[in-house]
Amino acid sequence: METIAVHAGMEGLTDSGSHVPTIDLSTTNPLPDVEAGGDSYENLATGGELIPGQSAVYQRLWQPGVARFETAIAAMEHADSAVAFASGMAALSACLIATVTAGKSHIVALRPIYGGTDHVLDNGLLGTEITWCDASEVAAAIRPNTGLVVLETPANPTLELVDIRRVVDQAGTVPVLVDNTFATPVLQRPLEHGATLVMHSATKYIGGHGDAMGGVVATNAEWSVRLRQVRALTGGLLNPFAAYLLHRGIRTLPLRVLAQQATAEDLAQRLATHPSVANVHYPGLPGQDPEGLIGRQLDGPGSLIALEIVGGYEAAARFIAACTLVTHAVSLGGVDSLVQHPASLTHRPVAPHARPGGGIVRLSIGLEHVEDLADDLFAALDQVCTPVTETIRELQPHN
Ligand SMILES: Cc1ncc(COP(=O)(O)O)c(C=O)c1O
Repeated sequence: METIAVHAGMEGLTDSGSHVPTIDLSTTNPLPDVEAGGDSYENLATGGELIPGQSAVYQRLWQPGVARFETAIAAMEHADSAVAFASGMAALSACLIATVTAGKSHIVALRPIYGGTDHVLDNGLLGTEITWCDASEVAAAIRPNTGLVVLETPANPTLELVDIRRVVDQAGTVPVLVDNTFATPVLQRPLEHGATLVMHSATKYIGGHGDAMGGVVATNAEWSVRLRQVRALTGGLLNPFAAYLLHRGIRTLPLRVLAQQATAEDLAQRLATHPSVANVHYPGLPGQDPEGLIGRQLDGPGSLIALEIVGGYEAAARFIAACTLVTHAVSLGGVDSLVQHPASLTHRPVAPHARPGGGIVRLSIGLEHVEDLADDLFAALDQVCTPVTETIRELQPHN
């Protein structure tokens, strides 16, 4: 994985005299003649790949840096190919549009899931009809016009794990899409467990530095043709500069994911001992992987932690405000640690009965030193200690 991460998508550079890919900002490409230009257009606008020697015609149809990034993601996910988009939501939207236009508008999806995904599925903006269910109800939820089963594991924001194979078996011939943003291909490769589509918000761990937005779907040859056509026609192409940054991010992805995970494992255990923490949601803690998925589906618990703060919404808000090293900001997976309040932010559009509780905060653990993070988080938790705890402390004898 480490070697693939460093070298995938870098093919042919030495011959061109470069060490890293060139950022080609051309929005249009010269055409050799009218006949050849028309042929290239026909190929690319119908979802074909660039044929060597052909003109790329127009950036929305084909972009060389985007193609390099796609090659790298396909290699990491062990996929035939990958198709990159302007954001994770553009990637998901392309999958939904391709499904609806094939005449299958019913989607089965598992909660919890990222709030934006929940929102677009629940309000049917793209012409889909949704049935929400859990992992044991998928077979019963499938209808003749079901076009896709959508799930996320580990799931946003409370890190529940889903057995992908179990869902795939119930889905039968219906393709299963797995949002693999939290695990990354370093920890989980859903195609190996029968999924047809793997989606990422590349904005997160893949980029890793909070400075590039993108999305990508890794899949088989047939789906990638459909997705490239949707992208060519609806215009959700990844920007060339973002493609460069996301591709560069992949080179350090295995190192970052494992280092961030080691810190999160340590912190999750320690945070569970604080009196202001009612519960720690982290797949690596005892009892939180009842189906034993770590080891057979997921290579490790990752670096996202959800804390349930004693005292609910008010206490959670005070905790977040008291963090100083950890930044209060949406997003995740970057080199710096972030904290956010899912019920009021990422999961605000989710139906009230399915929305995370007001006391839950989500931590994305970065690459800072574990003791600096522990100091910041424990100091912030101390500030939200319940009056009862304060009283006990006051009563303790002073030395
Ligand atoms: C798990 C997950 N999937 C999808 C998305 C959407 O990705 P983007 O923000 O790149 O559109 C996000 C964004 O937070 C996410 O966390």
